[in-house]
Amino acid sequence: MSNSSTSTSSPFRAGLVGAGGIATTHFKGYIKAGALVMGFAEPFESTRILREKEWGVKGYSSLDEMLEAPSLESGQLEAVSICTPNAFHFESTLKAARAGKHILCEKPLSMSLEECAEMIRVCQESGVVLQTNHHLRSNLLVQAAKKLIDSGAIGDVSFVRLRQAHDWGGSKTVRPSFGLFQNSGGGTLLDNGCHMMDLARYFCGEVGSLYARTASLRPDIEVEDVGLVSLEFKNGAIGSVEASWNATGWEEGFWVYGTDGALECTNRLGKRVLKHVHRSSGGGWEEVDVTVHDFNEEGGHPLAVQNFIRSVREGTPVICTGQDGLESVRLVLAAYESARENRALEITT
Ligand SMILES: NC(=O)c1ccc[n+]([C@@H]2O[C@H](COP(=O)([O-])OP(=O)(O)OC[C@H]3O[C@@H](n4cnc5c(N)ncnc54)[C@H](O)[C@@H]3O)[C@@H](O)[C@H]2O)c1
Repeated sequence: MSNSSTSTSSPFRAGLVGAGGIATTHFKGYIKAGALVMGFAEPFESTRILREKEWGVKGYSSLDEMLEAPSLESGQLEAVSICTPNAFHFESTLKAARAGKHILCEKPLSMSLEECAEMIRVCQESGVVLQTNHHLRSNLLVQAAKKLIDSGAIGDVSFVRLRQAHDWGGSKTVRPSFGLFQNSGGGTLLDNGCHMMDLARYFCGEVGSLYARTASLRPDIEVEDVGLVSLEFKNGAIGSVEASWNATGWEEGFWVYGTDGALECTNRLGKRVLKHVHRSSGGGWEEVDVTVHDFNEEGGHPLAVQNFIRSVREGTPVICTGQDGLESVRLVLAAYESARENRALEITT
C-alpha cells in the first residue's frame, strides 16, 4: 500500500533514520535512482549539521520530529531507510510503519527473533513494504551465481564457503555502535556473519544444524571479533561462514562447489569478478575451463535501493524480505548459543 498522494510517475520520496556511515550509501542510492531524499533523523547535532551541509537536506533530531514535520505531512514521505545502530531498528521500524512509511531496514533486522517477528507483523498490519538490507542479494555477481546454481550449471552443491572480514580500515578502535553490546547485540558474526548467513540460505536453502566457535581478541570491545560457523543444510550440503574484525584489509567472498563445477568470487586482491570453473572436454585434473563474469557496475547497495523502490511503486516482491532478515538473525543467535555451549545445534523454526 502506498500513501494516498503517491503517484507512480512522481519521484520517489525517501527519508533516512540515522545519518552515520551506511546512511551515506542509502543517500547516494536514492539519488542515483532519481529519488528525492526529503529529510533525515539524527540525534547527534554535530552529525546532523555535517550531513545537512553535505546532502543539502533538512535534518531532524528524532524520527518523531521528522514524522511530525509540517513540510513532510500529506504523504510527502513515502519510505524510510533505517540506518541506526542495531538496537534502534525495532522501535524506528514500528514507528515509521505505523505512520504508513515503507521500510528499507539495515541488517541485522533486529537483535532478537521476537523483535524481528513483531517488525514483520506491524509492517504487514500497516500495509507497508519491509525489505531487509542484505544488499549482497542485489549484487550482479551474486545474481549471476544464483542463476548458475539454480540452473544446475554446477551440478549438486556440496559445499559453500562464505567470508566477510575486515579490520575497520586499520583502526585500533571499534565504533561504539558496533563494539558495545547494548548498541549492537553482537560482534562480527551478527554484523558481517548475518550477510553471509543470508547468502548461505540464498544459495543453498535452509540450514538444518550448525556448530560455531567465536573469540574476542580486541581489548576494547564487549562482543566477539572472530567467528567461524559450520553449517549443515537440509539438502545435505555443508558450508562455512567466516567473519572477522581482525583481517588485514577488506575481504568479501563466496565459493560454491558442486558436482559439475564451482563458483569463486572474492574482492581479496583486486576487482571482484565471478569465476565459473567447469570441466572442459578432457578428463584430467588440468582439463578445466574458467568462465569469468564481470560487471562494470557490481555494487549491491544502489541496486538494493532500486529494488526497494520498485517493490514499493510496482508491487513486485522484495528481494530480501523481513522473514529473510529474521532467518539470518536466527542463524547468528543459534551460532552464539552453539559457541557458548560448545555443541552442535539443530535449527528449529
Ligand atoms: N548493509 C551493510 O553492508 C551495512 C554496512 C554498514 C552498516 N550497516 C548497518 O547499518 C546500521 C548503522 O551502521 P553505521 O555504520 O551507519 O553506524 P554509525 O554509527 O556510523 O551510524 C549510526 C547513526 O545512527 C544515529 N542514531 C543513533 N540512534 C538513533 C536514533 N534513535 N534515531 C536516529 N539516528 C540514530 C547515530 O548517531 C549515528 O549517526 C547498523 O545496523 C549496521 O549493522 C550495514
